[in-house]
Amino acid sequence: MAMHTQQRLGILTSGGDCPGLNAVIRAVVNHATLTYDWQVFGIPYATQGLLERQMIPLHMHSFDLRGIDPLLSMGGTILGTTNKGDTLAQKDEILASYAALELDALIAIGGDGSLSILSQLAAQGNWQFIGIPKTIDNDVALTERAVGFDTAVNTITDALNRLTFTAASHDRVMVVEVMGRGAGHLALQAGIAGGADVILLPEIPYSLKNLCGHLTELRNRWQRRFAIILVAEGIHLAQDAWAQPDQRPTCGKGQYIADGIAQFSPYPIDTRVSVLGHIQRGGIPSALDRLIAAAFGKTAVDLLAKGHSNQMVAWQNSKVVAVPIDQMCAMSPCPVDPNGDLVQTARALGIYLGE
Ligand code: F6P
Repeated sequence: MAMHTQQRLGILTSGGDCPGLNAVIRAVVNHATLTYDWQVFGIPYATQGLLERQMIPLHMHSFDLRGIDPLLSMGGTILGTTNKGDTLAQKDEILASYAALELDALIAIGGDGSLSILSQLAAQGNWQFIGIPKTIDNDVALTERAVGFDTAVNTITDALNRLTFTAASHDRVMVVEVMGRGAGHLALQAGIAGGADVILLPEIPYSLKNLCGHLTELRNRWQRRFAIILVAEGIHLAQDAWAQPDQRPTCGKGQYIADGIAQFSPYPIDTRVSVLGHIQRGGIPSALDRLIAAAFGKTAVDLLAKGHSNQMVAWQNSKVVAVPIDQMCAMSPCPVDPNGDLVQTARALGIYLGE
């Protein structure tokens, strides 16, 4: 039983990093200390820090440089993070460590996988626990937005703007591969915002023949001699003859599509492939991600103050609400709706999305 008088709140970041994590930490620290006079401790490297019984006291303005708080605009996470390890296999040690740290509550900023594992630990250890969704993939169910997604969409959009002009200058087809695991939210939203001609998503089957048909129509009907093709990393390989099991490519999905175009196009096409990779996870958080980070951090602290546990803060209809973590886990990862408004909008604008 904890002997201290001041409430002790732990905070950790878990899973892949993304822009906006530090802005959430800042919001939690400021609100918990200013409004409730709690002590806040950062736990480094997620459950690894718990296991090693490490924690760092966090104070308002403790990172200031000449009075400027860098947390608001800094990418990554000052706490460090990890997306590896079999946490549940070490559950007894983690539960013992949590008790030894004398924490009264824990806030975790993570994706659906991390929040699912931590909420199971919280249930077994009787921790008071609140989750905050983050991921550039935006595949956490029950929230329209996760921290980090908007910045990643902006980063990809910026890359598409840049690629458009070099593509147009050389009459090239630029194939751009983006992240998202099995979900196509990043590709779909950045593709519409960045003016892509083709967007390939894990959720919608495509055909190289139809894709090449679309490029031919762009050229013959609209005299467009270049094109931008956005490929989500999680697309499923086409069922074309070229993709027989014994000929499965070992290259990335972007390169696969570029090779497929070379194979199926009725005329020679000069293609180049860009894999944006972890560039999508870097950079300073956008204004929207900072706003969501602030609202999520504030609400997570208020939920704890009201005695709630095993809830996740979520963005629904421009408001922050609380949803049960169990329910979120059961519905995650959340894919793009192939019949949803955004897909229909993209099709209406003449973008090829498969089938
Ligand atoms: O889940 C976030 C994400 O960036 C995915 O989009 C991507 O597939 C994966 O993480 C990359 O993980 P890692 O950082 O281990 O390379």
